[in-house]
Amino acid sequence: MKKYLVATAAIFAASLAYAGEDSTLAIEGEVFVTEVDAPEHMENVSTLYSGWTFRADETQALQLDDFDNPAFLFLDQAIDQWDTVEGSEGKSCSTCHEDVADFAGLKSTLPRVEDGELVTMTNLVNECVTDRMGAEPWKYSGAKMSAMTALIAHQSRGMTMNVAIEGDAAPFWERGKELYYTRVGQLDMACSNCHEDNYGNMIRADHLSQGQINGFPLYRLKNAKINTTHGRFKGCMSNIRATPFKEGSEEFKALELYIASRGQGLSVETPAVRN
Ligand code: HEC
Ligand code: HEC
Repeated sequence: MKKYLVATAAIFAASLAYAGEDSTLAIEGEVFVTEVDAPEHMENVSTLYSGWTFRADETQALQLDDFDNPAFLFLDQAIDQWDTVEGSEGKSCSTCHEDVADFAGLKSTLPRVEDGELVTMTNLVNECVTDRMGAEPWKYSGAKMSAMTALIAHQSRGMTMNVAIEGDAAPFWERGKELYYTRVGQLDMACSNCHEDNYGNMIRADHLSQGQINGFPLYRLKNAKINTTHGRFKGCMSNIRATPFKEGSEEFKALELYIASRGQGLSVETPAVRN
């Protein structure tokens, strides 16, 4: 046990400053909330910071201009997909949905509970793909789904993260909270050990953020594609040598709800850019 504690302490190093401490995230004159008072339910954190705050100047710059932001190539693919007929019913998204812009406000309020189940944007899209189009479900974090959910989430850009956590949602939120604070893996660490106790510090070459999801799905320079929340959760669990839950699992959906609630008040940034 002692051994782990020593190992854990040794991987963090203090950082001199937040790269983006004094920068403002503004795109075409629209200013985004990247720093805000934490909601009451968070006991150990008083201020929320968007992940954008912690990125290097070059990475931040890519998000400041939609022409430079590589994510928009993938959003264009999703716009083509929107009109593509698929499945036994001979329908495309545009057969039934007039304009993707009608989905404004969805990202900021998901996941949400429907008929006793916690549903993510991916679940909602796949319900249309299978039940309404008669096609095979799209892979949870596959290329088509990542691009389409990024396009839909983008319609909420600039809106405030605001998920429901009471009533029907409460048990899912509690489950997510429990997972957030549970130590797992060979490194015996919880999400909170990095993203709550050590944000602002360096972990190897990486500047630790609060692990917010207001920018997801987002473009990562590392793998040059759109990354989903569950993909990122999986990556973080692998990094601490834990066996990750599956993308789309009840565990990751609950964690997504809980983490979304830890971003209450930040602006949706989709598609953000990260290293
Ligand atoms: C046969 C008609 C039909 C097709 C085709 C269809 N949808 Fe839907 N979709 C619906 C209906 C009906 C609903 C539920 C009512 C609503 O919210 O509009 C819905 C709901 C949704 C929602 C949730 C909206 C909300 O506010 O809760 C999303 C997101 C969505 N569809 C995306 C898509 C995408 C992406 C495609 C193409 C891959 C697609 N839909 C294809 C009819 C369709
Ligand atoms: C050993 C430290 C560590 C642990 C434990 C950890 N992460 Fe991370 N996580 C990172 C690093 C490093 C990054 C990349 C830099 C950053 O954004 O913090 C990251 C990034 C993220 C991001 C992306 C943030 C953004 O703005 O792009 C999310 C979301 C995230 N982690 C969620 C989680 C969740 C959920 C858990 C628990 C299952 C977890 N992390 C556990 C180290 C960790």
